[in-house]
Amino acid sequence: MPDGRVAGEMRVPGDKSISHRAAMLGSIATGISEIHGFLDGEDCLATLAAFAAMGVRIERPGPGDVRIHGAGMRGLEPAAAALDLGNSGTSMRLLAGLLCGQRFDSVLIGDASLMRRPMERVAVPLRRMGADVRTNEGRPPLTVAGGRTLRGCEHRLELPSAQVKSAILLAGLQAEGRTTVREPRPSRDHTEIMLEAFGVAIAREKQVVSLEGPAQLAATRIDVPGDFSSAAFFIVAGLIAGRSPLLIRGVGVNPTRTALLDVLRSMGGDIRLHPVAGRGGEPVADIEVRPGALRGVTVPAESVPIAMDEFPCLFAAAAVAEGETVVTGAGELRVKETDRLSAMSDGLVALGVDVEPLPDGLRVRGGTVAGGIVDSRGDHRVAMSFAVLAARAQSPVTIRDVRNVGTSFPGFATAARIAGLQLEETG
Ligand code: S3P
Repeated sequence: MPDGRVAGEMRVPGDKSISHRAAMLGSIATGISEIHGFLDGEDCLATLAAFAAMGVRIERPGPGDVRIHGAGMRGLEPAAAALDLGNSGTSMRLLAGLLCGQRFDSVLIGDASLMRRPMERVAVPLRRMGADVRTNEGRPPLTVAGGRTLRGCEHRLELPSAQVKSAILLAGLQAEGRTTVREPRPSRDHTEIMLEAFGVAIAREKQVVSLEGPAQLAATRIDVPGDFSSAAFFIVAGLIAGRSPLLIRGVGVNPTRTALLDVLRSMGGDIRLHPVAGRGGEPVADIEVRPGALRGVTVPAESVPIAMDEFPCLFAAAAVAEGETVVTGAGELRVKETDRLSAMSDGLVALGVDVEPLPDGLRVRGGTVAGGIVDSRGDHRVAMSFAVLAARAQSPVTIRDVRNVGTSFPGFATAARIAGLQLEETG
């Protein structure tokens, strides 16, 4: 272990998934919702802007604070133009479900990356409920016709997906009768937790969730915890480049998000959770990380869906672990903001790491990491993963195309320097 620099205490910005949902549910609730700790990243700001464009009054009393004057389930107004959701797949997929039960038509677009991402996965189940949602050969723009009567039905998802489940539930709020979603494995359950906070009765049993429509939401207060997926970069940094313990305060540790902890612990990582009081049903903890050598593992199939967003930084950890780390069953990584398997594999190769790309994963043999130039391909999580790995490289690492880091982690460079990473922003 080279002499690490990462140590001390830090916080990470608010949870992206929870912030999106707070913006959406607050907008269709009756009354004024107060959100604290909202993620002021570009993705969640795109969601807020979409509701402002549909006539919702949204105030920003301070950074991270949002006050939403809910329009009620029928109070949204048609936007004057297409809703531009930037880089945010979550905004687009969840909005498809929310808008397909409204009385007006909507068109959803995004940046070049989002315009390439698959959308039939939400359109197909919504059509089964009576919605008229059109894609362009499976991709955006999404054209969502209004004025349709939706009916509740039972959906069996082939793959676990919180975005698809959430889109269906948001449509179900506006449908006649019972809407049920069955998943083969659990996906993140922030929508279910937050719907309950907004007063909607949800029936849940293992991987099955149901609600009765039509439903009304009552405004509430939401405290957004720190984003586990953002903390993940510093958990890995604390393990592979730590000097002494690193404490990351106030992080959401919903078990449908934290499979990375199980994987890192099975690699020998010393990570401790100190629970703290949270509000609104989401568990919160301070995460303490102690530096130490890691060994490679084969990631178990059940961890794969709920560690999906964290694989880029897990691959960084694997690059300096002793032995081989194998991930399979993660083909979904190919249709994220970029093809993350290919972006991580090419970047690791550029830094001299021994990597074997697999159709639905990667095999990484840990060792020394050289310096060099890597291309994040505009993907925030790829960029931040290489920023962490650079702490263990033998010479400087230049990461290209990092502008999208602000989609999920505004202020990453400052947070990284506070934690002890050496990082310079250029150009
Ligand atoms: C998200 C769900 C996940 C995740 C994405 C955010 C959400 O995707 O990868 O970054 O907020 O619902 P799935 O729909 O594949 O679960």
